[in-house]
Amino acid sequence: MSELAWWQRGVIYQIYPRSFQDSNGDGIGDLAGMTSRLSYLADLGVDAVWVSPIYPSPMADFGYDVADYCNIDPMFGSLAEFKQFVDRAHELRLKVLLDFVPNHSSDRHPWFVESRSSRDNPKRDWYLWRDPAPGGGPPNNWLSRMGGSAWEWDAHTGQYYYHAFLREQPDLNWRNPHVRRAMDDVLRFWLERGVDGFRVDVLWLLIKDAQFRDNPPNPAYQPGEPDHHRQLQTYTEDQPEVHDIVRSMRATLDEYGERVLIGEIYLPVAQLVRYYGVNGDGADMPFNFQLLNAPWNAGEIARMIRDYDSALPAHAWPNWVLGNHDNRRVASRVGAAQARVAAVLLLTLRGTPTLYYGDEIGMTDGVIPPGEVQDPAELRQPGIGQGRDPERTPMQWDASLPNAGFTTGRSWLPTATHTSVQAQDGDASSMLSLYRRLLTLRRNNAALVQGSIEHVAASGDVLTYERHCRNQRFFIALNMGRADAEVQSPAGTVLLSTVPGRDGQPLVEGANRLAGCEALIASI
Ligand code: NOJ
Repeated sequence: MSELAWWQRGVIYQIYPRSFQDSNGDGIGDLAGMTSRLSYLADLGVDAVWVSPIYPSPMADFGYDVADYCNIDPMFGSLAEFKQFVDRAHELRLKVLLDFVPNHSSDRHPWFVESRSSRDNPKRDWYLWRDPAPGGGPPNNWLSRMGGSAWEWDAHTGQYYYHAFLREQPDLNWRNPHVRRAMDDVLRFWLERGVDGFRVDVLWLLIKDAQFRDNPPNPAYQPGEPDHHRQLQTYTEDQPEVHDIVRSMRATLDEYGERVLIGEIYLPVAQLVRYYGVNGDGADMPFNFQLLNAPWNAGEIARMIRDYDSALPAHAWPNWVLGNHDNRRVASRVGAAQARVAAVLLLTLRGTPTLYYGDEIGMTDGVIPPGEVQDPAELRQPGIGQGRDPERTPMQWDASLPNAGFTTGRSWLPTATHTSVQAQDGDASSMLSLYRRLLTLRRNNAALVQGSIEHVAASGDVLTYERHCRNQRFFIALNMGRADAEVQSPAGTVLLSTVPGRDGQPLVEGANRLAGCEALIASI
């Protein structure tokens, strides 16, 4: 498998740092805590950790509002502790990916403080400032993804600035070459410190229409959806010039060897795949989020796999994401039994998988009492189900300890105790054991890493496909229903099943039984 890059062979694990491991009792996770848990991740069998933002930040959006791109927030530690984290990860052969947040900064970032200080400040044009509309009011109809107008009035200089998210997150002007150079320096700052790549926040939003035209109404809008769904994002996302920026990020990373560029992009597949660029000059992996909202049925998933595979440009490497800090947890979306099926799916599809912390023990969405909501997306548009706290609750290490071992202090979000790493560790039938076995199987078998995906099919509730690499062939069958089902298969031997006792058993050519919610991998 040596001809593949490490990020093609590997599995990525996302850490939400506030919630992974606290080391100093302040109730919020930190770098020293993460470092202490790296051996758990190496044992689990993942290859890279992506860490959500840890930069200095007023935390209006929990770190996605960056006040200094080249430092560490004291809440998380220091640059020295970051070095210890990277060094320890590398000792354990784990790669480290940072979250790069170039679309917007915090309104407390010195760049914005300068920019808003006067109309003729040299940094004025680093952000998007516009005069009021001719009759007064915001310059156009653009809406914020956190609710309301995306324009904030600045009385001091008599103009509005644009913010795709919170007003505390002004958007940078990526048409300004100075901004591009400054952000390039940020990438280099971290690359010099040994970072192995970046997940780029909202990559598809970086460039906005140069003429600031109004977005058209969205005819499919349903009442109760987030505000910005009222409009098609025609002039605020996926603008053609964005690809030039992706190319320049790619070029910078290429100067440092095999570093990975991943884009957070929520777009239909046809638009998504353009972010791969031409002949490898784009992102290595535009995140493929289709599983996050997929209707959980065999026919839909089969169609999705086939469509994605055929939409990929020739040079493009696929990837699949099952969970992240912005979406409901998989175990809550599909239930505990199907979360196991989902694990087998994620780790046997063609392409790099990204796991979300805690999914490997089947964590479910936490329950947040009404007075304890933290997420600004929920606080500013209450009641529309946008709240992201439930999927951000602390990692459950040991249910017998206060806060499940996450903190000795008062946890920033409630910690659930329905399960834990400690409870699942020695249990061969646990979700954690399933993930460990899957990760080992994947690492040791070229068909699962670099094999083609063939014969993707659905029959009733059962999804089947094969992975082929030279003379190694695997057959995967997933029962996405609760009832027993029949599956047509080639003759083979079960290597792994979610049903205890089935490993090592033969599959006959033709009809075989699958238990309800069973997923299996067989060599054929
Ligand atoms: C996407 C991030 O994943 C999300 O958590 C954040 O709120 C927005 N970008 C704004 O940075």
